[in-house]
Amino acid sequence: MLITIADLLTADEVAHCRGVLARAPWVDGRATAGPISAVVKANRQVEPTSREAIECGEVILAALNRNPDFLSAALPLRILPPMFNAYGPGEHFGIHVDNAIRNAPGSRERIRTDVSTTVFLSEPDEYEGGELTVETPFGVQSVKLAAGHAVVYPSTSLHEVTPVTAGERLASFFWTQSMVRDEGERTLLFDLDQTIQDLRRAQGEEDPHAVRLSFVYHNLVRRWAET
Ligand code: NI
Repeated sequence: MLITIADLLTADEVAHCRGVLARAPWVDGRATAGPISAVVKANRQVEPTSREAIECGEVILAALNRNPDFLSAALPLRILPPMFNAYGPGEHFGIHVDNAIRNAPGSRERIRTDVSTTVFLSEPDEYEGGELTVETPFGVQSVKLAAGHAVVYPSTSLHEVTPVTAGERLASFFWTQSMVRDEGERTLLFDLDQTIQDLRRAQGEEDPHAVRLSFVYHNLVRRWAET
């Protein structure tokens, strides 16, 4: 399941992060790539342990925690600190799959990457190219969103960032270990939760069918979630 989230960040939060990142320490993106990915990766990243990355990461983590669609889709157990990258002319990240296990920077904690998120920090008209393309069971999806919007997709997917030919593409990206490891189970839970929310909006919070469906939802979470 690939979903997009409009306005994850407010315009003020985007502007604030862009200001902070403009004075952050930038390094070669290959520093955090595995040996296979490194060959196809050409971009720049903010040093993940820098003050600037941590400050902007906290803005994003706060936005995720207030976003019901992200919480419903990802069912997060642990979220790695958001990272930040930039692609200018000639830079790209060829087709690859992200590492299954990653260390949280500066700690021994390891997390399994179940869900990938990209938060766009540049407007689409600020650069040419730079689409995120994701292989899904229903074909390749190409994503290029307004600043502050996000895309959430399974980390099991092959994906790439196509070459930027003009301008600069600035984004945040990060991984989540989900309480529900299986992508099919996560998708069912997301669809059920969305249906319950729609029913509540249409029929009122106390609708007895919504209560019955939420009983099913929570008992499926009990079966499938690891905490
Ligand atoms: Ni990737």
